[in-house]
Amino acid sequence: MSLLTTRLEAATTDRALAALGFRRDDRPDAKAAIAAALADRERLAEVEVLAERVRATIGAIGERVAPFDHPLAASNWGGIGVLPLLALLAVADDVRAFHRSRGIPAFVSDRSLSDLGQQVWVHRRTYGAFGLHTYGWLAAAFCGNLYSLGRLQFNLLRRADEWMLSTHIPETGPLTPESVDDSFAQAAAFFGEHFPDYPATAFHCESWLLDPQLARALAPASNIVRFQQRWRLEEKVGPADGDALFFVFRRRGDVDLSTLPRTTSLQRAVVEKLESGGHWGLWSGTCTAT
Ligand SMILES: CC(C)(COP(=O)(O)OP(=O)(O)OC[C@H]1O[C@@H](n2cnc3c(N)ncnc32)[C@H](O)[C@@H]1OP(=O)(O)O)[C@@H](O)C(=O)NCCC(=O)NCCS
Repeated sequence: MSLLTTRLEAATTDRALAALGFRRDDRPDAKAAIAAALADRERLAEVEVLAERVRATIGAIGERVAPFDHPLAASNWGGIGVLPLLALLAVADDVRAFHRSRGIPAFVSDRSLSDLGQQVWVHRRTYGAFGLHTYGWLAAAFCGNLYSLGRLQFNLLRRADEWMLSTHIPETGPLTPESVDDSFAQAAAFFGEHFPDYPATAFHCESWLLDPQLARALAPASNIVRFQQRWRLEEKVGPADGDALFFVFRRRGDVDLSTLPRTTSLQRAVVEKLESGGHWGLWSGTCTAT
């Protein structure tokens, strides 16, 4: 039995899937996809190609990794992104071994890799089906450069001659100032201890959540506005209409704005801006606060 089949078989238990963040509703489809691949030599060979590409990136801190820049990743076998998903399942234990080599506790390892299941959940809410269209994003977690520390996720980023902690905000509940303070403090301690060879001097964020237009549309005491206030804005890096629609409504592609809910102030802000011909932007910022 090959390493790939051993790994995939081991991934079919509820326990293994739960450890990787798969919610109960997504586990039957994950198990079915694994079983279908195990029964299909050609598919296994394809998963192996992608798994090898992911494995080759483990430990590539601060480098651009793109293991899924490969035609097989775009296959729709079993659903969007299912081959990359199986490759990630097959490699999870190698990433855990890398974490151990850096002295990273198992609970941080599990939390960090559980973004896989979170993204499968996001995929279902976006497309109404099992799959993983955000497999490109997960490449960072599975090369060993994405860590969930409290409310936020971080990866080491090299900018000019400086290492920074790039900050990401998953959809896991409110972004309270206290949770952000706690996460920043955890990140400073964690990277100092486990990645002393990459001494980070500041936090970095690139997000549609930093668009200053949000501060004009939301209440000053809202978590998003208070989060924005931490950052020294740098520049608008690009357009973010698609990000706003994806992160607030979990919609991709052409969206009929009239069909979107307007229950919250953020939903109203996003839709009304686009309806009036305005646009959202992706902004970058830095901060040194802990
Ligand atoms: C970032 C996030 C955690 C902020 O949530 P929060 O802490 O509730 O934010 P705020 O307190 O600033 O919320 C302000 C208002 O927007 C609403 N709101 C916040 N996030 C919302 C979302 N994703 N969808 C709909 N409404 C949202 C709140 O309910 C509140 O509405 P109200 O004024 O009508 O009561 C949340 O927007 C989220 O999970 N977003 C998806 C992840 C994301 O965008 N990541 C960045 C990727 S680059």
